[in-house]
Amino acid sequence: MTQPLRLGIAGLGTVGIGVVKIVKQQADLLAARTGRKIEISAISARTRDKDRGVSLKGFAWEDDPVALATRSDVDVFVELMGGSDGPAKAATEAAIAAGKDVVTANKAMLAIHGQALAEAAEAAGSVIRYEAAVAGGIPVIKTLTEGLAANRITRVMGVMNGTCNYILTRMEATGQGYNTLFEEAHKLGYLEADPNLDVGGIDAGHKLALLSSIAFGTQVDFDGIELEGIQRVSLDDIRQAADMGYKIKLLGVAQMTGRGLEQRMSPCLVPAASPLGQLDGGTNMVVIEGDAVGQIVLRGAGAGEGPTASAVMGDVCDIARGFRLAVFGQPATSLTRATRAQSVLPAPYYLRMTLRDKPGALAKVAAILGNAGVSIHRMRQYDHVDDKAPVLIVTHKTTRTALDEALAAIATTDVVTEAPVALRIETV
Ligand code: NAP
Ligand code: HSE
Repeated sequence: MTQPLRLGIAGLGTVGIGVVKIVKQQADLLAARTGRKIEISAISARTRDKDRGVSLKGFAWEDDPVALATRSDVDVFVELMGGSDGPAKAATEAAIAAGKDVVTANKAMLAIHGQALAEAAEAAGSVIRYEAAVAGGIPVIKTLTEGLAANRITRVMGVMNGTCNYILTRMEATGQGYNTLFEEAHKLGYLEADPNLDVGGIDAGHKLALLSSIAFGTQVDFDGIELEGIQRVSLDDIRQAADMGYKIKLLGVAQMTGRGLEQRMSPCLVPAASPLGQLDGGTNMVVIEGDAVGQIVLRGAGAGEGPTASAVMGDVCDIARGFRLAVFGQPATSLTRATRAQSVLPAPYYLRMTLRDKPGALAKVAAILGNAGVSIHRMRQYDHVDDKAPVLIVTHKTTRTALDEALAAIATTDVVTEAPVALRIETV
């Protein structure tokens, strides 16, 4: 048997401890499958004396992740601290400079610095693997870079944030408020250190940016994503959507068009009976369309200790077996800069607004929509509270530009009490 593969693990939280457990509990299976032992040489976290529920005896300790990354007894630096910059980036750069391979679950770091890190790694002859960074336990990076390598990818879409899907589906199932369900998601280990990344759609945007790069051979362009979180989605929206046969999902879509690369991540209504509509809890789903393969659908746990550690260890096993691949599936220097394009294809929209309950208010809104060329398909006014009248409108297909023009005009009138909520209806 060849020499053991020696890991240095920085970050002993939900994912890091999951990795330690697999290395300890599955030692024989890992050795049998990769042909060599996989061992942990050293570990690092912020607090040394924390009870982490698993014995860490026998592993060297480093306070400084950079020191850990460059140790002579570490072959693979496993970065599980998180954060786009700071120690995660410093230690990853140090590991690459020291000729180590890197496995990370850090989508934030790669979505922002992926191009520079990939170029540095490839120049140094190192690999960076990050299966756990996108859709938790689902092997979507492997699917795109390996299984679908012969396809021209036309579209990648999906639900890629377990926290948001958990909160949205549990709100509907239990009628409980956002705060209670947020706490539940926290207990399940789904949340980012900064939960705004989750509910603001940023974490899912990071993941979409990574998938776009692999799918379309372009440099990661997180800033090019039209981004919106779930913070304005209310229990009312969820109930009204259900009543009309829809579910609300934080949905990401990336597609290459004749005008350039379209990337958006936003809460959308999808048919309740569709596979995406039936996706519950922390589950993720990624749909990939290729010219030869057609459409494939991947579904599984998108977050949590076991699923994420499984993905990290899949990458470690590949390195142990000697499998080496360019970070984004082709040499980083060959990735092109994508032209950013906004979605111009018309779609129906769900609008919720609260009107002042006075004569002519609804007529004013209808006139503004009509003048912008936005046609109303269905409308419902319900549950008046004091002098406020909540109104729901489902439009016929319209462009986002026409809708934004109408919404901006509606917001300046004296008939709405707050900015309207507008959610795209996807016929997936
Ligand atoms: P976590 O539970 O918050 O754990 C973070 C770990 O990093 C902790 O052990 C912490 O030390 C350590 N750490 C933080 N800052 C540090 C620093 N400056 N120096 C040394 N150690 C530091 O996070 P997690 O959920 O495991 O996530 C880790 C990474 O995996 C993130 O990039 C996240 O986006 C990604 N990810 C997570 C999931 C998931 O389901 N949780 C899924 C996919 C990807 P202490 O314990 O001492 O505080
Ligand atoms: N916070 C992320 C989520 C973890 O909820 O999906 C998995 O990337």
